[in-house]
Amino acid sequence: MSVTGVDLRWFPMWHGVLRPMISHVLLFWSARWRLSTCIGVVCLASWVAAAAQTADTDDDVYHMQMRVQPSFAKMQALGRQLFFDPTLSGSGRMSCASCHDPRYAYGPPNALSVQPGGIDGQVLGRRAAPSLRYQQKVPPFTEHRFDDDFDDSVDQGPAGGHLWDGRAATLHAQAAMPLLASNEMANPSVSAIVAKLRQAAYAAQFRDTFGADALDDDVRAFKWATLALEMFQQDPAEFYPYSSKYDAVLRGQAQLTEQEARGLALFEDEKKGNCAACHQSRISPNTGAFPAFSDFGYVALGVPRHRQLPSNADPNFYDLGLCGPDRSDFRDRADYCGAFRTPTLRNVALRRSFFHNGIFHDLQQVLAFYATRDSEPQRWYPAKVDGNIDPFDDLPARYRGNVNVEPPFGRPVGEAPALSATEIEDVIAFLRTLTDGYQVYAGRMEYR
Ligand code: HEC
Ligand code: HEC
Repeated sequence: MSVTGVDLRWFPMWHGVLRPMISHVLLFWSARWRLSTCIGVVCLASWVAAAAQTADTDDDVYHMQMRVQPSFAKMQALGRQLFFDPTLSGSGRMSCASCHDPRYAYGPPNALSVQPGGIDGQVLGRRAAPSLRYQQKVPPFTEHRFDDDFDDSVDQGPAGGHLWDGRAATLHAQAAMPLLASNEMANPSVSAIVAKLRQAAYAAQFRDTFGADALDDDVRAFKWATLALEMFQQDPAEFYPYSSKYDAVLRGQAQLTEQEARGLALFEDEKKGNCAACHQSRISPNTGAFPAFSDFGYVALGVPRHRQLPSNADPNFYDLGLCGPDRSDFRDRADYCGAFRTPTLRNVALRRSFFHNGIFHDLQQVLAFYATRDSEPQRWYPAKVDGNIDPFDDLPARYRGNVNVEPPFGRPVGEAPALSATEIEDVIAFLRTLTDGYQVYAGRMEYR
């Protein structure tokens, strides 16, 4: 980020304009004027390119010039105000916290599959709102992830990025989206948002944080607002407390019960749950980092179609995750269709809707799906007119080969489930140890 002092925007000017101009003049004096005219043309072109580049880099909030010495604490405090401010929505009734409630690890406060938003508070989205905790563990989006935690020689394919399809590169780019989305906070424009910021009770705090001129220009003011939201989401106490029972166990301060320990063993057993293959559960032997319970890779699980979502009323509409339609850069990558980013399972027991379309409402259902998706497909997918089951019904037939069939999946129809009913209860008991807030009360560690 460029701070007070040298404005980094001038560097492209020097390389692209001033230096070529000086060489141009020198060449002209050495009487090679014809060559120098050609260079002059190149020089002009490079100036245009440099100007374009300057405009480009200036477009990102990290490159913007702040008129005051930046203070992380001030940006966080301002970001908190913005996060909880319902006036920053078109309806005047919805803040970020409406869908990302701190009492639910910044996940949704209700059991709805998708949250209502929009100008009248009635428009339904098509994806479940995730928890905003542990975002700092999400790596930047890449098509070729080499995991440095365990075996760094394997290309795991696409991973990382924010949102279910990784289309937001940073938390400030992400923050701009709900503020303007017609099904979420539904502001008509950036100017409309900044007009509200100028009226806000914390307008003086905004200027104190980013400089006296911070609210003068709409585009810049909006970017500062998204930066403050990003900084708020990096507050360790709020967003990555690592205060679950399992963290206490990893620190040697607590012990799993017998049932929780059985659940962890099933979670990690490659022939049983095999959950840890995607939802990593161990401290990294290389970095010592505590596990994120996700490798942030993209996988198609064949989650059933959610027929109650308004977007699915159109039988030809499919939310295909990584290959679109929200994400536009991989529309021709058939092998990416149906893949969604593996979510963290930290605080998962606080959720009441699961998977990208929020189709399931308790962990028993989720675990039963993992255990019997392929052995009892009739439990999960509708029958076609000919009476046969239509598995992976939320994917056009040509993409169904993308669906993952490793354990716990891949069992032939009619075979026993990958996890029995008791084993499912054990895994859920373990998942409950991933909820934050396991603390010392009156000398004893417990949840309250
Ligand atoms: C109407 C409900 C709603 C509101 C209001 C809302 N969000 Fe979200 N949020 C969602 C949904 C749904 C997703 C997932 C969307 C997707 O993947 O396409 C999401 C995803 C995110 C993510 C990505 C998380 C991840 O796991 O990658 C971040 C960060 C986020 N929201 C921050 C915010 C901020 C900051 C605000 C306020 C400016 C906000 N949200 C307002 C519903 C909401
Ligand atoms: C092959 C990788 C993979 C394996 C193995 C796997 N998961 Fe997942 N898990 C995912 C992906 C990807 C999603 C999101 C899929 C979607 O929404 O389309 C997910 C979603 C979930 C969710 C929903 C979380 C939320 O916020 O909505 C839970 C709970 C879950 N997994 C638990 C488990 C358990 C328990 C196991 C072992 C029995 C397991 N997973 C095995 C990749 C995996």
